[in-house]
Amino acid sequence: MKLMNKNLMPTYNRFPISFEKGKGVWVFDKNNTKYLDGLSGIAVNTLGHNHSDLVRAISKQAAKLIHISNYYHIEEQSVLADRLVSLSKLSSVFFCNSGCEANEAAIKLARLHGHKLGIDSPNIIVMEGGFHGRTMGTLSASGGRKYQAGFEPLMSGYIRVPFDDIDAVEKISAKNNKVSAIFIEPIQGEGGINIPKNLKQYLKKLRQICDQNRWLLIFDEVQCGVGRTGKWFAHQHSSVKPDVMTLAKGLGSGMPIGACIANKTATKLMEPGKHGSTFGGNPLACSAGIATLNAIEKEHLIKNAIEQGLLITNILKENFKNNKNIISIRSLGLMIGIELSVPCGDCVNIALDKKLLINVTAGNVIRLLPPLIINKREAKILSDRLIFTIESFINNL
Ligand SMILES: Cc1ncc(COP(=O)(O)O)c(C=O)c1O
Repeated sequence: MKLMNKNLMPTYNRFPISFEKGKGVWVFDKNNTKYLDGLSGIAVNTLGHNHSDLVRAISKQAAKLIHISNYYHIEEQSVLADRLVSLSKLSSVFFCNSGCEANEAAIKLARLHGHKLGIDSPNIIVMEGGFHGRTMGTLSASGGRKYQAGFEPLMSGYIRVPFDDIDAVEKISAKNNKVSAIFIEPIQGEGGINIPKNLKQYLKKLRQICDQNRWLLIFDEVQCGVGRTGKWFAHQHSSVKPDVMTLAKGLGSGMPIGACIANKTATKLMEPGKHGSTFGGNPLACSAGIATLNAIEKEHLIKNAIEQGLLITNILKENFKNNKNIISIRSLGLMIGIELSVPCGDCVNIALDKKLLINVTAGNVIRLLPPLIINKREAKILSDRLIFTIESFINNL
């Protein structure tokens, strides 16, 4: 098998390895060598690989009806929307196929809201280190030249402030900069698993500022949502409710699906014809979403995310407690970041040799996003292999 194919556009630096099948937290290459998946396809495989309920649900649905236009009522979409509305306590759902599309819908809501407030050219406050996707609208919202360079002109209408800095947002609020929304990941993923020092207080303050100014508060939970942090949605670690929330990644446990969920005020901004997606919310994708949410509930995976997340974090913290090369170990549930003092991309290769899939983000943060079905034994194996990886890397510095 060819591992490099020049007929593929060179958008990725790929590792010379290909996986053929998976079971639970394990994936197998063509020699049947098994690897522990500590990344879940970047927070996607909520239920791990080949989960019997998910496979059954999508097989059954594929045999019935895969796709039908949004011109018609789609029962599976309706069922999934009801579940998401009930879990989020918001009011309506727009389905699409990915995180950036969910965010595009949210950005459109922010603009509609701005126009409704009488602002001709409304701005959205976004965060340094934030990541919202690769479409022109979402890469312009993302904080980091890495994603933007070469794609100018970028979309205008964003004001960027440091993450976890309420004063910076207050300053903008005082200046009345024709803002219509704040758009933020409650926990930054690509930015390096950045958790606000006081998540509850930070989100509460953002909510207050939005309420005072009649701005929408929009949470991008594409990476941190759907049980990953030990709550259905990361913002539920606080008492704050957003006006709009976006989901994707873990929602379909591998089937492409995104969702933009809005409260009553934001819902009223939309009307038929204003937005849409051909594939968005098709029966197959929605059947995966329903099966994912059902399995999370049935198998108590949110509780598991807390328990296994703590176990891994504690093992790592104990092992590296006096290690000057480890700047910090940050986690909430199964969203875990280990910040090193130096760029550590090589750790991914060392881990691969050790049969562990991980990722490095923001240059020096090892990111773990294992499936929510990981058990205690597997969490210990993951920790052992990661400790070996980091120690080998540090010893070679
Ligand atoms: C927080 C966040 N938002 C949006 C996206 C974009 O999602 P997608 O790649 O599905 O467009 C990502 C992807 O990493 C993400 O982490």
